[in-house]
Amino acid sequence: MTVYEAIRTRRSIRRYTEEPLTDQQVKTLLEAAMATPSACDCRPWEFVVVRDKKNLEELAACGKYTGMAKDAGAVIVICATPERQNEICPGYFPQDCGAVAMNIWLQATDLGLGAVWCGVYPGEELANRIAKCVGTPEGVIPFGLICVGHPAEKPEPRDRYEEQRVHKERW
Ligand SMILES: Cc1cc2nc3c(=O)[nH]c(=O)nc-3n(C[C@H](O)[C@H](O)[C@H](O)COP(=O)(O)O)c2cc1C
Repeated sequence: MTVYEAIRTRRSIRRYTEEPLTDQQVKTLLEAAMATPSACDCRPWEFVVVRDKKNLEELAACGKYTGMAKDAGAVIVICATPERQNEICPGYFPQDCGAVAMNIWLQATDLGLGAVWCGVYPGEELANRIAKCVGTPEGVIPFGLICVGHPAEKPEPRDRYEEQRVHKERW
């Protein structure tokens, strides 16, 4: 699959078969995550990979919109580590971690897997629940969950291009 195809066919997949992910698939997703560019190359991130059914159920119960996590083959919890940002580019971690989320999501699409990003940051309540669930230390912010599995649904690609949102030279 080309990048062109991955970007255009990616959808949120919230239903998964019971087929487990291989260790290699999970490694490939994490490699894609860590290949993401970041401001000043600070790489303000770490990852918690959750694959155990009981732990997935606990994660799923953390939020109103995270229920699909219980049936995922894996949930990658993207954790922001703001203390890794240097003095030149403080405050960029949400952009860096957002880019990470998209790299994982597109990589999952390329592998024929289905994924969905569950936003956590900047929601403090949800972040606290996830932090407790996966045991992140003080100063580490659960940024988002990427739930991944073998897809049990196949929504059609959508064309969302809107010419009227493009401003030429000036707004
Ligand atoms: C930052 C962000 C947070 C999201 N949070 C959730 C979520 O908590 N639960 C969920 O089911 N989907 C979540 N989504 C998925 C969006 O609902 C989905 O991307 C959007 O409806 C467009 O559909 P598509 O991904 O199939 O193109 C999130 C997506 C983004 C980018």
